[in-house]
Amino acid sequence: MARRRHAQPHFDVPPALPADEAASLAYEHDKDLSTHAFKEGEHPLVRIEHLNKTFDDNQVLKDVNLNVWREEIVVVLGPSGSGKSTMLRCINMLETPTAGHILIEDDEITGTTKANLNEHRKRIGMVFQNFNLFPHLSAKENVMVGQTKVLKRSKAEAEAEAVKQLTAVGLADRMDFMPSQLSGGQQQRVAIARAVAMHPDVILFDEPTSALDPELVRGVLDVMRDLALNSGMTMIVVTHEMGFARDVADRVVFMEGGVVVEEGTPEQVFDHPQNERTRAFLGNITD
Ligand SMILES: Nc1ncnc2c1ncn2[C@@H]1O[C@H](COP(=O)(O)OP(=O)(O)O)[C@@H](O)[C@H]1O
Ligand SMILES: [Mg+2]
Repeated sequence: MARRRHAQPHFDVPPALPADEAASLAYEHDKDLSTHAFKEGEHPLVRIEHLNKTFDDNQVLKDVNLNVWREEIVVVLGPSGSGKSTMLRCINMLETPTAGHILIEDDEITGTTKANLNEHRKRIGMVFQNFNLFPHLSAKENVMVGQTKVLKRSKAEAEAEAVKQLTAVGLADRMDFMPSQLSGGQQQRVAIARAVAMHPDVILFDEPTSALDPELVRGVLDVMRDLALNSGMTMIVVTHEMGFARDVADRVVFMEGGVVVEEGTPEQVFDHPQNERTRAFLGNITD
């Protein structure tokens, strides 16, 4: 018997805005919601316009609009199932949006061809909840493989970069260990080093500490904090670590039910949440 196909909702999405118009609208929208220091003539690095994503008849993202500026640290909060991972996966082109636009530095990546996919992916790093290291490669080889295969760096160059980045995350003495010989916290630090070694425009973090034993969370957060404060990296971080969000975020975004419910500086969102659902979520977390 044929499987019943669900009707896809119809989305009427206007074309992506021209770069200068989008930049000035985004600046007006974001300037009071972020502690980011805007630069003259700056454009958003990541621009999400009217993003919709459905799985069968389940509409997971509902007209999400969000801009992330170069060197901005955006922390995304929200209950399980609110669409946070799906949004990151759309930015990273692991999922195809049902409708809407995603632009990286004014280049539209939605509807991109396969040939361009790798070019775009070079610009976007990702750190997953479960580390996703190659189990048969050492820590150093894990950090080298993307550099040699995707960026076509020489082995020597990739190795030097791997040594540098693994040292930066405190793993100078573990470079030749296999993932199975490392703690979860160490594996996640390898994954962060691997992302940074590619020098992407933006790194997406999807609950990077959620799979870790509590005593290992701190070390990973310290590495992320150092990256955020000292490297100039642009980061979008989905996390439940409120202390990290408060200390490190330029902007906090609260999502629920596939919608951006509220956004603002950490102070605005944590100390003066405007939306009832944000208040309920933060109340549950801190209780
Ligand atoms: N590949 C998929 N196929 C079908 N449904 C999915 C898929 N990925 C996510 N979903 C659904 O989308 C919703 C949002 O999921 P997700 O983006 O993972 O939320 P969050 O990361 O906020 O917990 C959930 O209802 C989930 O079941
Ligand atoms: Mg998720």
